[in-house]
Amino acid sequence: MKLEKRDWLFIAVLAVVLATFIAISGKEKTKPVPDDPIHNPVYEEAYKNAPGPDASFFKKAFFRPAKKDAEQLCEPCHQQFGVKMPPNHPPKFRCLFCHKLVR
Ligand code: HEC
Ligand code: HEC
Repeated sequence: MKLEKRDWLFIAVLAVVLATFIAISGKEKTKPVPDDPIHNPVYEEAYKNAPGPDASFFKKAFFRPAKKDAEQLCEPCHQQFGVKMPPNHPPKFRCLFCHKLVR
């Protein structure tokens, strides 16, 4: 079988898709918000409106943590404890887009 120009094009497109996929999946390694006692206030703020155990199915399905409120807590406390960010830290608006909640 002889590979035609079209076949090579197909292979090239496939390679690009695969490379993009690998590049994106690598970004998920950003550290999550630690699930430790210090970060408990973050989780409590984020889940303050969480539906109770006997709420309706829809309330549970559509619940989203109050991330914007929880994000207000991050920087003041990190400053207080002197928690450092790497010098090449990306723009840091919306912490919880990148640092996931793990609870
Ligand atoms: C009440 C204080 C406090 C608040 C609020 C807080 N942090 Fe922290 N954070 C700390 C302290 C202290 C450390 C260092 C010790 C540790 O790892 O727990 C830390 C460490 C971290 C680390 C590094 C963990 C590691 O493994 O090196 C990340 C990431 C982080 N915080 C993200 C966040 C984000 C995102 C928020 C807001 C949604 C937040 N923190 C809110 C106190 C706080
Ligand atoms: C665009 C994505 C992004 C956003 C938004 C972001 N970060 Fe990060 N953060 C990273 C990456 C990537 C690293 C370095 C990789 C790692 O160790 O997690 C990092 C590292 C950190 C570390 C050091 C972790 C360590 O290794 O000790 C802290 C603390 C931290 N971020 C806190 C915050 C806080 C607080 C905010 C919001 C004010 C924030 N980040 C917003 C992506 C982000």
